[in-house]
Amino acid sequence: MSALLLAFDDEWPLAERLAAALAWPLQPVARHRFPDGETRLRLPPRLPARVALLRGLQQPNDKLTELWLAAAGARELGAAQLALASPYLAYMRQDIAFSPGEVVSQRHVGRLLALAFDAIVTVDPHLHRVATMDEVVPGRCGVALSAAPLLGQWIAAKVQDALLVAPDEEAEQWVAAAAHAHGLPYLVARKQRLGDHEVRVSLPSIDVAGRAAVLLDDVASTGRTLVDAAAALRARGAASVDVAVTHGLFVGDAIERLHAAGVRRVWSTDSVPHASNCVSVAPLLARALEEWAAG
Ligand code: R5P
Repeated sequence: MSALLLAFDDEWPLAERLAAALAWPLQPVARHRFPDGETRLRLPPRLPARVALLRGLQQPNDKLTELWLAAAGARELGAAQLALASPYLAYMRQDIAFSPGEVVSQRHVGRLLALAFDAIVTVDPHLHRVATMDEVVPGRCGVALSAAPLLGQWIAAKVQDALLVAPDEEAEQWVAAAAHAHGLPYLVARKQRLGDHEVRVSLPSIDVAGRAAVLLDDVASTGRTLVDAAAALRARGAASVDVAVTHGLFVGDAIERLHAAGVRRVWSTDSVPHASNCVSVAPLLARALEEWAAG
């Protein structure tokens, strides 16, 4: 059965890498933004039965509307089987009501995606209290890939005798995966979040003096988690602190703050387009989409 990859213009470099890895044709989803903020999408007028749509959900609110429209349109134009390849899946961190009345965004965004797509493939989603992507997208095929081993490989090649550091307990899953894949040691810090822009990271009582520390996390948003962790490592005498994340959102002045806190280099995957991209998730996504297409 023939297959097609669809993508938006602002993710075209990753789309080209993914299409090449899949050896599938790539077509654009053309967008027009009306003066009042509404969007008109245009898809190829005839679609094959199997279509994958690439859409990362950084800055997600407008994109969720576009995704919903693109999926519905693709069905009408012939896509009997429709997959979403979303390298960064937003709204995964709000997985419980942390205070009475809070809407559990993960559950409802997951259900919305499950209504629109047959399969949802993503990379390092923030799964913590909910264990699997199948639970996030009920009744559909949910695939959670991990870029942590690839980041571990990059770190092992760039940093001699690296000590991996998880800035909080939730990051241990990724740090452990990277460490085990490449025989690297790691430690896990603890984090207390005091607000959107304020966190306190405390290191365990392990000697880091003179070590080449590399902080590894799934996502950097404001960067404050990594800033506080880097400052703590520097204060304890770490010789260098580098940072590697799967999803580099780096909101506002995050990068400047990281360097001011003593971070030497910042690395990320191309799940979110950013100047720090150094590792591609295209091969991971391609393998998962090939399996879906063969299924
Ligand atoms: C949450 O636990 C995540 O793994 C990240 O540590 C967090 O979202 C990073 O946010 P920020 O960069 O704003 O501190």
